[in-house]
Amino acid sequence: MSTIIDGKAIADKLTKSVAEEINLIKKTNSGFVPGLAAVLVGEDPASKVYVRNKKKSATSVGMEALDYYLPESTTQKELEEYVRKLSEDVKIDGILVQLPLPAHIDQEKIINVINPDKDVDGLHPYNVGLLVKGQPRFVPATPAGVQYILSESGIEVVGKHVVICGRSEIVGKPLGLLLIQRNKNANATVTMCHSRTENIRNITKQADVLIVAVGQQNFIKADMVKKGAVIIDVGTNRIQDATRKSGYRLVGDVDFENVKKIASAITPVPGGVGPMTIAMLLKNTLESAKRKNLVFD
Ligand SMILES: NC(=O)c1ccc[n+]([C@@H]2O[C@H](COP(=O)([O-])OP(=O)(O)OC[C@H]3O[C@@H](n4cnc5c(N)ncnc54)[C@H](OP(=O)(O)O)[C@@H]3O)[C@@H](O)[C@H]2O)c1
Repeated sequence: MSTIIDGKAIADKLTKSVAEEINLIKKTNSGFVPGLAAVLVGEDPASKVYVRNKKKSATSVGMEALDYYLPESTTQKELEEYVRKLSEDVKIDGILVQLPLPAHIDQEKIINVINPDKDVDGLHPYNVGLLVKGQPRFVPATPAGVQYILSESGIEVVGKHVVICGRSEIVGKPLGLLLIQRNKNANATVTMCHSRTENIRNITKQADVLIVAVGQQNFIKADMVKKGAVIIDVGTNRIQDATRKSGYRLVGDVDFENVKKIASAITPVPGGVGPMTIAMLLKNTLESAKRKNLVFD
């Protein structure tokens, strides 16, 4: 029987420590109020929920959370101008542009406008470059959360074969870069799989730690997993559920019920990686505010 990793408890503990640190700094520096701005373009319901939850969490730890809801019709130029203004605003320490953006917006151009010192999502090429060079500053929140879950759960990845399914810019790719860093929570041997990978089952079967970020329900089945492997399920898929008030529920990418019988540890969905994302974003914003205010550990 595997251990079910309680990502919510780990995230709550981290959020609490962020709140405590902010309180402590405020005692000697009363003007210290980390500011986190979120920009949402359009009406995507899942993004709205995320931005709302983020605001609630940021406020609860003593940050100022500013949300900007822009209409779907916002042009590239208008959005660039918006993000540029936030980049120059001294009250703002972290900028989050909620992705995906509407199809008529060039996402990469928008990310490039974010001040890299406030890029708490770690998507600006400057921060990606630092990660590649082994000097990570802001690491995207979800991969950082996965690494944190592993270390907090006492799961060593040093020298282990970590297989990541998915190579997106926000999850798979930065996670692979993070886990090959030369440090005690990394030093893994990483294999990255994607939609063109041949014989994926042969590869996932070799994983000591299998991390899945594909976005397909039941993508990983029990016969794709080595006995005793650790399974981290990043996938978040909405499926219809008439028994719920909302009409849907969330499931991951892993066939949880069958895979948990052979894994040594596994994250559930919901309650696994999901809660870590906001906690890590808060941590990144605190680090940014500390740097601006010259507060050193
Ligand atoms: N928990 C959280 O906070 C959080 C945060 C972010 C994302 N997520 C969830 O994580 C999942 C992935 O998100 P994402 O943004 O990384 O997704 P994405 O950008 O759509 O990337 C999906 C990746 O899966 C790969 N893939 C698709 N079909 C495959 C197949 N049959 N075999 C192997 N690989 C396949 C794709 O390969 P190609 O590159 O070849 O197309 C791509 O690299 C989603 O469910 C998302 O909701 C959760």
